[in-house]
Amino acid sequence: MCGIVAATASREVSEILMEGLRRLEYRGYDSAGIALISHNAALQMHRRPGKVKELEYALKQTPITGFIGIAHTRWATHGEPSELNAHPHISGGRVAVVHNGIIENHGKLRDELIEKGYKFDSDTDTEVIVHLLHFNLETNEKSLPEALRSVVQRLEGAFALAAIDIAHPNQIVASRRDSPLVIGVGIGEYFIASDQLALRQVTDRFIYLEENDTVLVTPDFLEVRNRDDVVVQRKVSQITSAPEENMLGSYSHFMQKEIYEQPQALRSTLNQTSDPENPSLFGTDTEKTFDKVKAIQVVACGTSYHAGLVARYWLEELAGIPCQVEIASEFRYRKRVSQPGTLLITVSQSGETADTLAALRGISPGEFLATLAISNVENSTLVRESDLAFMTKAGAEVGVASTKAFTTQLASFLSITLALGRRNGIPEDKEKEISSALDALPDAVSSILKMDYQIRHLSAQFTRRNNMLFLGRGVYYPVAMEGALKLKEISYIHAEAYAAGELKHGPLALVDEDMPVVAIAPGDQLLEKLRSNLEEVRARGGQLSVFADPHSGLEPSSDLSILMMPNCVEYIKPIVYTVALQLLAYYVALNKGTDVDKPRNLAKSVTVE
Ligand code: F6R
Repeated sequence: MCGIVAATASREVSEILMEGLRRLEYRGYDSAGIALISHNAALQMHRRPGKVKELEYALKQTPITGFIGIAHTRWATHGEPSELNAHPHISGGRVAVVHNGIIENHGKLRDELIEKGYKFDSDTDTEVIVHLLHFNLETNEKSLPEALRSVVQRLEGAFALAAIDIAHPNQIVASRRDSPLVIGVGIGEYFIASDQLALRQVTDRFIYLEENDTVLVTPDFLEVRNRDDVVVQRKVSQITSAPEENMLGSYSHFMQKEIYEQPQALRSTLNQTSDPENPSLFGTDTEKTFDKVKAIQVVACGTSYHAGLVARYWLEELAGIPCQVEIASEFRYRKRVSQPGTLLITVSQSGETADTLAALRGISPGEFLATLAISNVENSTLVRESDLAFMTKAGAEVGVASTKAFTTQLASFLSITLALGRRNGIPEDKEKEISSALDALPDAVSSILKMDYQIRHLSAQFTRRNNMLFLGRGVYYPVAMEGALKLKEISYIHAEAYAAGELKHGPLALVDEDMPVVAIAPGDQLLEKLRSNLEEVRARGGQLSVFADPHSGLEPSSDLSILMMPNCVEYIKPIVYTVALQLLAYYVALNKGTDVDKPRNLAKSVTVE
């Protein structure tokens, strides 16, 4: 987590860096800072606890200028969010560093540096980097890139970092290991950032660094060295898509905007499956691999993990392919056995989630038939390191709570299910039914958006609650899990999801008049079973709110609110019902007045373990 941005140019860079930070705030927003080398080679810095707007305010009060600088927005790992722990960190009044990642051997390095006479001002792991760099420059009289290379050889853990030094007032050095870093190529200027999104306002040409690369840039010079200290040429990629729309427009929050963008996001994602020009999708390699798939292992975190859980029902029931789904942070540390012919599918909106990447990198040769990444970010590390990729075309997701990424992941899984089902003898009429359900999906989601007012009205009864239960059966159990996750992360209400049949095995003890229960009743073959579970809740005084199918036969009463969902084909209902739960979480958070787009303690892209 944390976002870093750096620029060296022949013009003022402070606003470029600040715009970069605004665009990177999704990576963390505990504190922010900026350091520039002024025109008379002095290091100037501002750091502020809180969001980027606090830093903006500090800059307005006391502007700083320069043609070269680094900046950072933080998600705290070592040390509380405070001005002293905010980046950049400085050593000897000359060197400044910004860092994303975790230095695992920082304790040992800190002791060593204290012995050499260095004083530590912060509780961060990052401060060892800047003092080590300073030590190498002062004592060993190395050049800035040489000094950085000596430093990174000493570091254990994950990092993307950038440094400046007043003795080399037009140079930025940078390096990465297990954390993302891109170089933005301008005309007579270079930029560096955790994510290309931060730099789209200044360039559309990017270099994606490889593991352990180190870089030196001046306004008109770039040198990349690989882990063996050999100068290498890294490809410059031109981004052809228009810069992502990063404006709220008429919406109040990015989460709201992104919920509303879902019909279009789904259309774009589904349209690519019918595009014969798209080789990455169902091109020859994918076709050949799919012919051999005997089983699937899905690995992901958070919301993306929930997408895998929903997909398991589809892959097993419709394509007849056995499917396991596991949280990446568990998968990566477990001794595993997989059956021959298993396709590993990793799912990640960002394509940079540390645990998911580590899970992919940790598989043994021959353990899986092939690896396929479902991701929303082209050129993300996960996509680059997988054999095959299926891109969700959701567009940039800025709100920390994932919405359109989830529904487009589900649409991608349904398309993959169809492709595998065709090889596994799915009946033609069923295949046609699923295909036309997918065609109808964007409109079905639009019809949920028209229920905005009703869902907002329903949300009022949850505003003052401390706990909630979400119930579902079958494929709607992971949908309930996603509903509970959305609610807890943005409204801070404790919410848990249960498979409705599990209620009587423990959680029913929690149910009383203070425990609202939200249930999903889609009118499938498990409806009758679910109705009994709902009666069990009512009999204990529980307040029920049900997202129900028109054919569920449920009637509202004093202890039962019903939100009647539009009728649609069974296969797409998990996606359609999810959108209603997203709106519910959004409005509960809005009623409570929490920071919907930047909930406390979280960050959008979890690039640390
Ligand atoms: C929840 C949420 C997170 C992410 C998780 C994985 O709304 O956004 O749970 O789903 O951190 O992120 P990606 O999909 O980028 O790997």
